[in-house]
Amino acid sequence: MTLQETAREILADGRGILAADESTGTITKRFEAVGISSTEETRRRYRDLLFTTKDVEQYLGGVILYDETVRQDALDGTGMVETLRRRGIVPGIKVDAGAKDLAGFPAEKVTEGLDGLRERFAEYADLGLRFAKWRSVITVSDTLPTATAIDLNAHGQARYAALAQEAGLVPIVEPESIMDGDHGIDRSAEVTEAVLAAVVEQLRRQRVALEGVLVKTNMVVSGYGGPDQAGPDEVADRTLEVLHRTIPAAVPGIVFLSGGQDDEQATANLDAIARRGPQPWTVSFSYARALQGRPMSVWAGAEENVAAAQDAFAERLRLTGAANRGEWSPGGAA
Ligand code: 13P
Repeated sequence: MTLQETAREILADGRGILAADESTGTITKRFEAVGISSTEETRRRYRDLLFTTKDVEQYLGGVILYDETVRQDALDGTGMVETLRRRGIVPGIKVDAGAKDLAGFPAEKVTEGLDGLRERFAEYADLGLRFAKWRSVITVSDTLPTATAIDLNAHGQARYAALAQEAGLVPIVEPESIMDGDHGIDRSAEVTEAVLAAVVEQLRRQRVALEGVLVKTNMVVSGYGGPDQAGPDEVADRTLEVLHRTIPAAVPGIVFLSGGQDDEQATANLDAIARRGPQPWTVSFSYARALQGRPMSVWAGAEENVAAAQDAFAERLRLTGAANRGEWSPGGAA
């Protein structure tokens, strides 16, 4: 199967991606915020709960895993990767080692993880993983990002993407322009455009096949701390304007992260974007928080809450799936 076919399979029939690839540090923070103690076993039980929710495969074409999960078994003894495959869901893997402080550039980040990546990809391919993710983090303010931070992170994205393709995995390139801050939507659009343009330029220079890449990006929204919050129509128009300017039609798909938007916003904005389709690329979601927030807090680490948590997850999937088809309406009806 070609990379392009894999990319298309992941997003076929209006399906999207669940990002369940939180590093141990990140999932521990999220667990602790809702009173769950984070151990290898609780993390296994939680991921099992998500992946075995009824009909999850109607909405998810791909799930991004963290290294620990890849090596774990579901509660019925089947490997986690195999559990997804049996449902017709393509398993993927986060391979970056996190965004670290960029020396000499206060408040800016650079993503690490390139050393030894060729060998890691060879193992992941053997383990049955078919796509990958690498996230870089761009700080946004009136004066940031610097051109240096944009360039270094774009360069890293393309180095990772070339290695992923060499190993036969579809790279998701995810440059996230962070939505925190009090900047307005104009600044968000300006930065997102510069960041995506730099990433595409590096992909070309480093001979990455655009047909075998998925782009994961933030929506263009107002900074969360700003006085004026753009509504879904403005978010959709500004987001699509930036994407049309920067992402070639050769790219098979663009997926959005939720980025700390609340569930309603993440759903309403996705719906407004979908209503403006079709686009040159398939457009879909790759959410972590906007799909997992509810079920995680309903579960709260207790066995007796598993069924209710799975119901909550199914509901988030149903509404997000409706939004992805442009069929969602406020108040929750699909
Ligand atoms: P959120 O949807 O919570 O932003 O996470 C998506 C993701 O994968 C970030 O890397």
